[in-house]
Order: sequence, then C-alpha cells, then structure tokens
Amino acid sequence: MEPIVGWAGDGAGGPAVVVLDQRALPHRTGYLRLSTVDAVVDAVRSLAVRGAPCLGLVGGYGVALAAHLHGTATPVALAAVRDAAERIATARPTAVPLALGARRALAALDGGPAAVLAAARAADAENARVDAAAARRAADEVLRLCPDRPVRALTVCNTGPLATGATGTALGALLVLHERGALGEVLACETRPLLQGARLTVWELAAAGAPHRLCVDSADPAALAGGLVDVVLAGADRIAANGDVANKIGTYMLACAAARSGIPFLVVAPEETVDPDTPTGAQIVVEERDPDEVRLHGGTLQTVPGTPVYNPAFDVTPHDLVTGIVTEDRVWMPGADAATAGPTRG
Ligand code: MRU
Repeated sequence: MEPIVGWAGDGAGGPAVVVLDQRALPHRTGYLRLSTVDAVVDAVRSLAVRGAPCLGLVGGYGVALAAHLHGTATPVALAAVRDAAERIATARPTAVPLALGARRALAALDGGPAAVLAAARAADAENARVDAAAARRAADEVLRLCPDRPVRALTVCNTGPLATGATGTALGALLVLHERGALGEVLACETRPLLQGARLTVWELAAAGAPHRLCVDSADPAALAGGLVDVVLAGADRIAANGDVANKIGTYMLACAAARSGIPFLVVAPEETVDPDTPTGAQIVVEERDPDEVRLHGGTLQTVPGTPVYNPAFDVTPHDLVTGIVTEDRVWMPGADAATAGPTRG
C-alpha cells in the first residue's frame, strides 16, 4: 500500500501532496493528489486526511508544496509561502501536530524548496520512529496493568496507521499486543457522527486479523460495567501541561465510565502532543463542525430540517480521570502527580 500521506514531486504532474482519501473507506481505496494549497486545506477540513500525527505530516508536506509552487527567491514569494503555511496550520484548531508540522517545515525556508521538503521528510521519518516506540511502550504498560489473560480493550475513534501514517498510537499498541498473542478482543466504538471507529478502526483490525466487535458509543458504559473490558485506550489531539486530554468526542464519557468501573484509562500519543503553552484543558480550542454531520446519516436527513445542532469534534478529559499518558519517552500519570508538566518543546 502507498503511504497514507506522501510527496509526489518528481513526476510529470508537478509537485503534490498525495493522501489516501479516508472519507471513502472502507468501501473504496482511492488517493487524492493535492497540487494546490487550497486542496490541502480542503482535504484537512473535510477529513479526507485526519488523525493528529497524520495532520502533522500534511502540515510539513503542505508547506513544502507551497515552497515549490511559489519559490523562495523573492520577498513576495517568501510572504506567499508564509501565508500558505498559516492557512494550513490553522485549517483545524485542536490537534497540536498540524501547526507544529507546518512550523517545522517553514523553519527551513531559508534553504529553499528542497530544504523545506527535506524537513518535511525528516519529520515523517521521526514520526514513524516515535509512533512505533509509543505503541510498544503502551503495549508493555497494558500488560503490566492487565497481566492475567488475553487483554480485552475498548477504543474510540481511529488511532491506527490511518491516523498516524505509521504504526498507530492507541490502536498501534493493540496491534502490537495482537502480534504478541496477548489480545483477547477489541471493542471498537463506532464514533458518531463520522464513524471513524466503524469505518476505519474496524477496517484496520480486520486487515490485521485481530479479534474485534463493533458497538454503538452509548454501549460503552454498559460494556465497562458489565465486565467486558480490561482497559480503555485512546489517542490525543492535544494534551495540556497539566495532563488534561483533548480527543475525539465521547472520550470524556469513556473516561468517566472507566473510572466508575475501576478500569484503567490510558492515552497513547507522541510527546509533541503535550503542549506546554496550554496550561489546562480549559484553554484548548475544540473544533465545532458542520451541523449536517449530525443531521444527516449516509446523505439522508434524520431529523427535522434545520434543527440546531451541537457538534464538537473533540472533548477534554480531566487529568484525574487518566490512569496514564504513554508517549515514546515515558508513562506519565498526571492524576497521580498533578504537579508534573510536559517537557518544553524545542
Ligand atoms: O477528527 P479526527 O478523525 O481527526 O479525530 C481523530 C482523533 O480524535 C484521534 O483520536 C486523535 O487524532 C489521535 S490519532 C492517533
């Protein structure tokens, strides 16, 4: 399979960012060739490409595209690239890696388009290393917490290779457990309204041959209370310095239910997701999306036309509900040590 996010600059079609169109999955596997900054921004906003680490890759390659389209030889060209970088970085507000990826690539602007692309490629390689390390560490932590039998886990949204462009974070850890023969079952929440769990996580679990079942989001507390689950794993889009976690809408509900049932709730994410400039979850900007994502299902209206809608893409789980945040570097227990902050980012 081609990369989830990649660069296609050497062919006859001119420079482009290529992404797997996740809107069409699981029914169709198709790639989008994004050859303008508008197309990159649109792919991010429409969730053709999604998941925090994948957005970081798009941020880097998107700025490389802008540098190739505008060049870097004049002040006007440099201003155009900077403007494009800003548009890409702010296409969605919640995930840390999008703006970080764009900013890192932009830092190489003085070296010209080739240097910007090299920075995006280096970030891509580093993402793969970090992702695999976090998944392995999280798998170890799950086995430490749940040593008694093949692990039955519940997960939300999609945090696998489709979301990271590499091995995956929370789902990556579950795939590692499956490889080790230690996975009993994954309960995948469908993740209304855009069904990343039903469409993407199930697709990835099925492809890996990992045992799984799908459930509606509102079944989560019952599954936890009913003894079907040993551990909950989630990803993160932004983690505040105090350990509050922004992730897909429904994550907070899961953390509450896990706490009520005495089940560990783990977050798996790259260290760069911890934002030292965001002291607590109260400062995290939560993206609110198109009302029609809720009003319509499969293109069919499910409610009274024009019904006002509340459609936050994410929620914030307070750190005291988080058993551990597993990154490539550490297992951080923000609930146990509220004074611990993430490292300063370079
Ligand atoms: O709106 P999405 O599909 O981009 O939301 C994705 C999530 O919430 C993921 O859990 C998060 O980005 C972590 S991806 C490893």
